[in-house]
Amino acid sequence: MLGPVLLAAAGSERVRRLVSSTPLTRPVVDRFIAGEELSDALDATTVLLARGLTVTLDRLGESVTDPARASRNRDGYLALVDELAAAGLAERAELSVKLSAFGQALPDGHDIAHRNVARVVAAASDAGTAVTLDMEDHRTTDSTLAIHRELRAAHPETGAVLQSYLFRSEDDARALAAAGARVRLVKGAYREPPEVAFQRKTEVDLAYVRCLRTLMAGAGHPMVATHDPRLVAVAEELAKRAGRPSDGYEFQMLFGIRDAEQRRLAAQGHRVRVYVPYGTDWYGYFMRRLAERPANLAFFARSLATR
Ligand code: FDA
Repeated sequence: MLGPVLLAAAGSERVRRLVSSTPLTRPVVDRFIAGEELSDALDATTVLLARGLTVTLDRLGESVTDPARASRNRDGYLALVDELAAAGLAERAELSVKLSAFGQALPDGHDIAHRNVARVVAAASDAGTAVTLDMEDHRTTDSTLAIHRELRAAHPETGAVLQSYLFRSEDDARALAAAGARVRLVKGAYREPPEVAFQRKTEVDLAYVRCLRTLMAGAGHPMVATHDPRLVAVAEELAKRAGRPSDGYEFQMLFGIRDAEQRRLAAQGHRVRVYVPYGTDWYGYFMRRLAERPANLAFFARSLATR
């Protein structure tokens, strides 16, 4: 029951100010975020690469309501691409972007976000890396997938995300598998109404397996983004049955979650990519991580109580 409350709080400006202003939040935030500076993200990347993992970097930001901020976010990503290239990390570290950070929710937001992300995708491609478009709430799905389709015309390596909790995702998985795309499959982290999304965990998990089966049997590159041990085992089995080589798919997990499992899979010869968020705009991301797991909230509450 706590999950929906926390997801509602993730959209509240009042709660954001309250949570962000208390220094007591910091130790818990640090578990999930590499740091506030680009240099923190590069340090975390170097450590993860040394463990045999690969990385996708998220410069935190979302739900932008003014065009200047959207441009600043784009420029932040362009600076990140330059730094990755300069540090020689671009081959093993790619980028994840939220189109709402690039202005998708503004009037004419589809076009603004498209123009902004196109510059980042082109710069990433020149540097030898790629971009995946994160998926946000269901009102953005059509726009995000349309932008993904257009970006792929010049940069076919651009990745999309599908959320198994959405009813539509099985159809989207069939379309993207046929198109040979890189697709990250997740369960979904937003609060969605019963008209568009499964509400029960079992239904979301079963839908995940159905989408995964389609992606593994298809022509694309599945990116299996979950910490769920049962789904990791299912993915291993489906990849084997589809005859996929170890570089024909990858596992993805979030920074700070199930580190030992990340290393175990990599040691077995799997490709494992860690999603590394950094920056000052961490509130929405942090609240979604709390909502996913009530134990995180207990940890957060304990850390407040023991101060
Ligand atoms: P589930 O929630 O069932 O968790 C399985 C187990 O994993 C738990 O029992 C626990 O051990 C561990 N675990 C999971 N979440 C944890 C947490 N927060 N803290 C501690 N342990 C945790 N969503 C979205 O809507 N759009 C997107 O673009 C993305 N992008 C994305 C990228 C990557 C690389 C990952 C791994 C995930 C996302 N997500 C996402 C988030 C995703 O939708 C989902 O909310 C989380 O991955 C949690 O679901 P699991 O599949 O891990 O299963």
